[in-house]
Amino acid sequence: MPRTIVVTSALPYANGPIHIGHLVEYVQTDIWVRFQRMCGHRCYYFCADDTHGTPIMISARTAGIQPEQLIERVHTEHAADFDRFHVRFDNYYTTHSPENKTFSELIFGRLNQAGSIVRREVEQTYCEKDQMPLPDRYVRGTCPRCGAADQYGDSCEVCGATYRTTDLINPRCAVCGTPPVFRMSEHYFFKLSDYEKPLRALMAAGYTQKSVTNKLDEWFQAGLKDWDISRDGPYFGFKIPGEENKYFYVWLDAPIGYMASAKNYCDRNGLDFDELWNSPANELYHFIGKDIMYFHALFWPAMLLGAGLKTANKLFVHGFLTINGEKMSKSRGTFIKASTYAQHLDPEFLRYYYASKLTDLVEDIDLGIADFIGRTNADLVGKYANLASRSGPMLTRQLDGRLGALDDEGRQLIRRLTDAKEQIIRDYEGLDYAAAVRTISALADEANRYVEQNQPWTTIKTDREKTRTTLTAVLNAVRILTIYLKPILPQFAQKVEKFLKVEELSFSDVEKTLENHPIGTFERLFERIDEEQVTAMVEESKESQAPKPVVTPPPAGATPPPEGPEPFKPECTIDDFAKIDLRVAQVVTAEPVTGANKLLRLVLDLGGVQKNVMAGIALAYQPEDLVGKMVVCLANLKPRQMKWGLSEGMILASGSGGKDIYMLTVDPGAKPGQKVS
Ligand code: MSP
Ligand code: ZN
Repeated sequence: MPRTIVVTSALPYANGPIHIGHLVEYVQTDIWVRFQRMCGHRCYYFCADDTHGTPIMISARTAGIQPEQLIERVHTEHAADFDRFHVRFDNYYTTHSPENKTFSELIFGRLNQAGSIVRREVEQTYCEKDQMPLPDRYVRGTCPRCGAADQYGDSCEVCGATYRTTDLINPRCAVCGTPPVFRMSEHYFFKLSDYEKPLRALMAAGYTQKSVTNKLDEWFQAGLKDWDISRDGPYFGFKIPGEENKYFYVWLDAPIGYMASAKNYCDRNGLDFDELWNSPANELYHFIGKDIMYFHALFWPAMLLGAGLKTANKLFVHGFLTINGEKMSKSRGTFIKASTYAQHLDPEFLRYYYASKLTDLVEDIDLGIADFIGRTNADLVGKYANLASRSGPMLTRQLDGRLGALDDEGRQLIRRLTDAKEQIIRDYEGLDYAAAVRTISALADEANRYVEQNQPWTTIKTDREKTRTTLTAVLNAVRILTIYLKPILPQFAQKVEKFLKVEELSFSDVEKTLENHPIGTFERLFERIDEEQVTAMVEESKESQAPKPVVTPPPAGATPPPEGPEPFKPECTIDDFAKIDLRVAQVVTAEPVTGANKLLRLVLDLGGVQKNVMAGIALAYQPEDLVGKMVVCLANLKPRQMKWGLSEGMILASGSGGKDIYMLTVDPGAKPGQKVS
């Protein structure tokens, strides 16, 4: 029975380019959609740009254009990127659409009627200079708990504290640097906790993967909180009906954008949206990344339940992409844009690599660069393309381009390939693409072994018809492997279809054989990856070490801003910072260093472990005053051989240099070796 399946991927924000991290999701979804269609099901794939909210409004301001212009430009770029990677949506729409506005108002209205919306006064941060309310992320200041400077308005990246923006010490608007003011404002809240019971039931019925359900249990236990769904203007979004200056928060209308995209498609194609979206006979699936689970496992189904609309059959959550085991990084050149990748490498390489790593688990997937090159060359070039290139051209050039009939040995090979079909289908259906790829690549190995054993390049000299029989088996194997790979490698499949002169292949073609059939001219399928191509791609992705201005630059022609601080060093992550091991250390000896008038040679005691440290504090401190002092030492600094001796750590001090240096000291009661945070 053909199924009718509606599939969505999360809507990418319209204020940045598609990068290869995003592509994990769009490739995962696209493979599934193609797979379903190849099984004969009706499958619709909808997506859109997520266009509303403060960051987009500010990006547009910075660029000196209207948000509408910005989102249009980005929409064109995103659509082109998806196209390059063969991600084929039935509709790639926008959340800034009339359909989305209508649905947002409808759902909000129904939630209101259901008594799930309440109004409450909240204290809100406002920048009088920019004349706009500031979301938490747009306020920076000193952490009230640990004193770390330049932290966000809602949480501290150094000590992990969460707090209210009003608690931040010395708060500043992140856009213009002005201290914000605090104002009271009435906001709309969605009473999420009203839906706890049906949400729990949904999870129990298998709405999402086990590990996600476990995470949700923690949230249920912590208690579901009311959700602030309104924002004061100026804001780029939909106005709340009956309000002058209040808008729906972007995350309210974003998931509704799934429906709006489908509705727009249905209207343009003469389909009944209500039937497609809401019929219990049809299936609905959302693919998302683990960072947006809360929105899709709690808010979104609760909104739908409250509005009397159907919830998805399942939420498929995937992990994040890491590169060489680390987060994508602009300075390392691993924050690779889809468009940059496509300039250097074949997009199908990435699709295949992701497929070879993707399972239904919510684990992060790692792109190891050496592994990527190795696997692409070994599998795509060495196994699949090789099989075709060893048989196709020989048949065309020397055997009039006609397949013959299969013999027993050939049939056996083909049987082994067809036997794997049901398993491969199950693996695709269950999102275990890694298992499907393992099976397919093992089958390709078998087919390559068959070629080795039958040596067509030798038999062609003595027995043309025997050779034709061999090549017939090989090309039938190529055909089946191509069907299996087609959800992952659509372009490769298209080339093979053309060269084998067959119609569009689908899973129902697996059992058919091609005999006594003319083939077309062979086209090269894949080229090997050269390491240099990858290096060039990484180099191009490296963001210049010059820091981005924190304060947005004024448009050209405006009066220049006052001199800013010296440029900041490249960004360091919380993970980089976490590597630092600070310990209390007691100064055992301190002496001047001949030849270096700024240095003192210190011997520090870190609780039984002694370290030599060369410290540049000689102009500020007398060595004899230091002995016995409790200082803070960076204890895990890699030892460095200096001209004057080995330095195995650093002590914490600050100041502008020379005499103006102040060592950080700790309470004399502290124990040497004790951790400092
Ligand atoms: N706009 C929201 C989604 C709204 S859906 C109603 C958003 N956009 S996003 O551009 O940040 O991310 C889009 C999707 O890409 C999300 O599912 C996100 O998890 C995924 N990914 C973004 N970066 C990723 C990686 N580095 N790795 C894997 N997936 C990633 O969230
Ligand atoms: Zn400001």
